[in-house]
Amino acid sequence: MLIDCDPGLDDAIAILTAAHLADLVGITTVNGNVGIDHTTHNALAVIETAGLDIPVHRGASRPMISPTIDASHVHGPTGLGSVDIPEVSGSPASHDAVGFILDMSRSIAGLHLVAVGPLTNIALALQADPDLPARLAGITIMGGAAVGGNVTPVAEFNIWADPEAAAIVFRDAPGLTMVGLDVTHKILLGASERDRLREAAFPAAVLAADLLDYAVERSGEMRGWSGAPIHDASAVVAAVRPELFDGEFRHVDVELHGTLTRGMTVVDQRGSADSTTDAATRVLTDADAPIVIDTIVDSVLALRP
Ligand code: RIB
Ligand code: CA
Repeated sequence: MLIDCDPGLDDAIAILTAAHLADLVGITTVNGNVGIDHTTHNALAVIETAGLDIPVHRGASRPMISPTIDASHVHGPTGLGSVDIPEVSGSPASHDAVGFILDMSRSIAGLHLVAVGPLTNIALALQADPDLPARLAGITIMGGAAVGGNVTPVAEFNIWADPEAAAIVFRDAPGLTMVGLDVTHKILLGASERDRLREAAFPAAVLAADLLDYAVERSGEMRGWSGAPIHDASAVVAAVRPELFDGEFRHVDVELHGTLTRGMTVVDQRGSADSTTDAATRVLTDADAPIVIDTIVDSVLALRP
């Protein structure tokens, strides 16, 4: 697995989850929740805290067309909530995330690309080499929604942050799996999950507990929820344990011009697309939430040194 991310509270938990559930060959970072300096630093901080030897490659510092945005009101000014981020000793293996993604797709059979931030790096990789999807075992993205949104009434952050990139990915990456808000809003981690992590008392588990504390507090403030949707780790679980999720093959496109709807994933619900058609995306619609939640927590706990 290769994760493209914008850490980010839930991205950080996704990295830890993937480190246990998959053979995580590398991490690429993108501007998103916070700026590229922070998302790259945060990715390095997460793997160092967990004692993982996984390369981090820095990627796009801005969207393809949209102005640079952030979600620091959700993830905190640094992107990792109010966590006292440890000093990072390492540095990015390169500033060429696209080159790393393409290189890994050529050298590793069965590689699954999981993108949990704005899709800028993935779109640039597809423009550089349209044959990328054919070399991958799959592409799973956390993004979009068949119904609803979180940044606007109809747009989810990862798509809204770089809709031109998302439109390219949905058009040019056949066999995409879309893990949207329809599913991730059911994967809520709360106090009991936080307590399990904190009681484990090793650095990666304590980091995850601290991130979860901040996410739960913000979710409570913003939505009155008792738990926080850990969107990105849900996408990691969906890539490794697809049997825990339900989905339908649908044609999906991204609105680029609507005043009210820019960044919306327009999911064609008029009958299901044929899974063999190029444009078909597997849109996840439901999950066995308790098992997905336990899989995320158990994966982090499995990283005990
Ligand atoms: O809408 C949720 C997505 O936006 C997640 O990937 C979160 O990390 C933010 O990037
Ligand atoms: Ca993210």
